[in-house]
Amino acid sequence: MSTLLLLLLTTLIPLTTSYAIIWQPQATITTLQATMVIPQVPAGPGIHFIWPGLQPSSNQYVFQDVSGDDTGIGAWTFADWAVNSVSNYNKSGDVAVYPDDSIAISFQLNTQTGEWSNEWVTSPGSAGSAAGEVYTISDSVVPDSVVSAFGALTQALFVIELQAGATWNFGPLIFKDIKIVAETSETIWCTTPSTADSFTFSMTDPIVGFEYDQRGNIVASCSIEGLVFLKPL
Ligand SMILES: *[C@@H]1O[C@H](CO)[C@@H](O)[C@H](O)[C@H]1NC(C)=O
Repeated sequence: MSTLLLLLLTTLIPLTTSYAIIWQPQATITTLQATMVIPQVPAGPGIHFIWPGLQPSSNQYVFQDVSGDDTGIGAWTFADWAVNSVSNYNKSGDVAVYPDDSIAISFQLNTQTGEWSNEWVTSPGSAGSAAGEVYTISDSVVPDSVVSAFGALTQALFVIELQAGATWNFGPLIFKDIKIVAETSETIWCTTPSTADSFTFSMTDPIVGFEYDQRGNIVASCSIEGLVFLKPL
């Protein structure tokens, strides 16, 4: 419980360290996809979280798929979370994940039905296979009325969140095959993400595209093949 509360507080108020890259199209985001590669296991103390997710401009809600060592030092677990500013959260059951696992994550709004699907698939790497891990698939559906109760989701975030004295001691964090789709014809946001706190990262050039949403509206997409959080400065 205290972990969940801490997550809520730190997500909304930066009480602890976060390293983040944030895309802000200033329009409703309808898709966020990324594959997160589980890094080395962090050493204690404190709690380490790594996640992609979506927030409204108000920052009063976060829709996120999170790996963390919140269930015990010395191991990563993974779950999907939704947290809002009225001390309310939903979290799926934790699954064990291991370094070099690839987790394919997708948040997708069907603009016709008004439903979000949050799907993730974990693929074991060699450490996971050795530990007997198998593929896990989760697909949950959440009404947009719940997801956007604090405003439309206009920010796509990639975050290392450190609580209770934790440090970024698990080496580089790799995201692959990122795609963000937003209900706008602007594209400058794709190539101008902002960063929070000081760290080095490397990123392939973002590629802009256009597609149609379920209602037939033209929307802008932003694809990034690789994004690596290298190290704190
Ligand atoms: C959790 O789910 C319930 C039921 O759908 C919803 O009313 C509540 O707003 C959700 N909380 C968050 C933080 O998304």
